[in-house]
Amino acid sequence: MPTKIKIKVNGLVHPVGASLDTPLLYVLHNELHLHSPRFGCGLAQCGACSVLLDGKEIRSCVTPVAAVSGKHVTTLEGLPALWAKHRRATSAIPALHPLQEAWIEQQVPQCGYCQSGMLIQAADLLSTTRQPTEKQIKQAMNGHLCRCGTYVAIIRAIQRAAKVMAKGATA
Ligand code: FES
Ligand code: FES
Repeated sequence: MPTKIKIKVNGLVHPVGASLDTPLLYVLHNELHLHSPRFGCGLAQCGACSVLLDGKEIRSCVTPVAAVSGKHVTTLEGLPALWAKHRRATSAIPALHPLQEAWIEQQVPQCGYCQSGMLIQAADLLSTTRQPTEKQIKQAMNGHLCRCGTYVAIIRAIQRAAKVMAKGATA
C-alpha cells in the first residue's frame, strides 16, 4: 500500500508515494529520476546501487525507503555540493567533486556501469581517511565489482583526489 513519506536527497526534501518496504533504489529511479545508482545484482553484492546515507555508503537496492526517512541521502549527483559543504565554500558549488575530476584525469571508466557506486564508496572512504594507503583503498573498495577491471585506475584516482582534497582545492 503506497504511503506518503518525505525523504531528503541531495539537499532537497521530496514527498514520495511508495510502500514503506520499497527499495530506495526504485524510488530514486522512478520518482526522483536520479539514475546514477544502478541496478546490478539487487542483493547487496556488487555496489552498483550505492548511495551515501548520512555520509556512509549503503546499498540502495536492499534499503527500504522507510529506513532513510529523517536522514540525508546523497547520490553521485550530490557529490559536488557535498564537497562544497566540506570546504565550507561560500562561492558557487563546483561542477565536479575532486573524485570525479580525478576519475576523468585518470580515465577510469570503461562501460561506466559500476562507476557511480565506486565514486560513492570512495567519497565515504575519503571522508574518514584523508590519505588512505593502497591497502586501505583496496579494503574499502573490496565490496564493489567492476566487470571491466578498472580497479588499478580507481586506486590511482582515489590517491589523486585525496591529495587535492587535502589541499582543500579543486584539481
Ligand atoms: S544492485 Fe545493489 S549491491 Fe548490486
Ligand atoms: S566500468 Fe564497466 S563494470 Fe566497471
